[in-house]
Amino acid sequence: MGPKNPRKKKCDKSDHPELSKIENTEPTKDDNQDSSKIQNQEPSKNDNPFPQKPKIQLFEGDCMTLIDSLENNSLDCIITDPPYFTDKLDHKWNSEKIADDTKNSHIQHLPKGMKFDKKQVKDLQTFYKDLSAKLITKLKPGGYFLSFSSPRLYHAIAMGCDEAGFEVRDMMNWIYTQTMPKGMSISHLIDKNKDMTPEEKSHMKEEYKDHKTPMIRSCAEPICIAMKPIETSFLENEKKYKTGLLDFSQKVGEEADKVPINVMTTQYMDPIYDKHFFINKPSKDEKGDYNSHPTVKPIALMEHLVKLFTKPDAIVLDPFSGSGTTLVACKNTGRRAIGFEMNNEYYEICKKRLF
Ligand SMILES: C[S@@+](CC[C@H](N)C(=O)[O-])C[C@H]1O[C@@H](n2cnc3c(N)ncnc32)[C@H](O)[C@@H]1O
Repeated sequence: MGPKNPRKKKCDKSDHPELSKIENTEPTKDDNQDSSKIQNQEPSKNDNPFPQKPKIQLFEGDCMTLIDSLENNSLDCIITDPPYFTDKLDHKWNSEKIADDTKNSHIQHLPKGMKFDKKQVKDLQTFYKDLSAKLITKLKPGGYFLSFSSPRLYHAIAMGCDEAGFEVRDMMNWIYTQTMPKGMSISHLIDKNKDMTPEEKSHMKEEYKDHKTPMIRSCAEPICIAMKPIETSFLENEKKYKTGLLDFSQKVGEEADKVPINVMTTQYMDPIYDKHFFINKPSKDEKGDYNSHPTVKPIALMEHLVKLFTKPDAIVLDPFSGSGTTLVACKNTGRRAIGFEMNNEYYEICKKRLF
């Protein structure tokens, strides 16, 4: 974005007063050595809120506001694991309430993420459309917007992106086996029923002992792969912005000899799956024992996505950084990154992981 970046078309800000508080100038050696510096600076009211330009930048606050401070057409990629808008995990995500949430098993007190509410779809789609409308202006043409999601709400994310002008080009899936079944038995409903005799209840409980509410145990997270439309052709777009084409040298599979596949796993499963889908196992302590975030992603998975969808030194945004796995992956793979996180507890964890 700055004059030092040969990929960036020179841009005269006097022509574009709306442009930029965050700039994508090349980081200097000093920036990289002192990237924590930005964390210690409390900007005064009149200061530019993003005074430093280190390789990895992290800001505490609501992304819906912070995004406005980014320069238009400045990002190469956006990779995020957003709030899924299941109950309690929406854009008002409150870490204390979630940590306190120890209740289980009854309809009124379902643990986080389990309550079905049709409104969640509409709310997520509206939120994602608004978010995507902001993000599309900040991304370069041909830049990708990758969003993790849940099987039940994927369509809301995809339609939100689509409605804002993104092209939904694909869907990738992260699969794993360590999850809890979520379907619930109906025996407590039978017990509460006032119209049945004890014998009828007992009979019905036996008859329905294997039937549960329709929540199939999920071992997959779909990732929506949306792209800001290219300007002319993939070739011209690549020449101008270095975006749009994917790096198929990022091989996958246990032998790292398979071209990228839309199914990925970070655990050993069985020989066929491992041969084709395996990315890399997370290390035992990669999260950090201080990391209380409930939905931390494996670093290897994020590194794979970063390398597949961006070039070295690209600028990647994660508007919902959580404990910062996307940013760690960018740091490990030589990309520049900007992260936003509105929750102070997670922001502090993120800082600790990164700096
Ligand atoms: C699914 S988590 C991300 C977890 C992350 N991938 C990791 O590995 O740690 C989503 C995060 O978005 C944050 N969040 C929710 N709404 C936000 C908003 N409007 N602006 C910034 N952060 C937000 C939540 O606090 C939560 O930490």
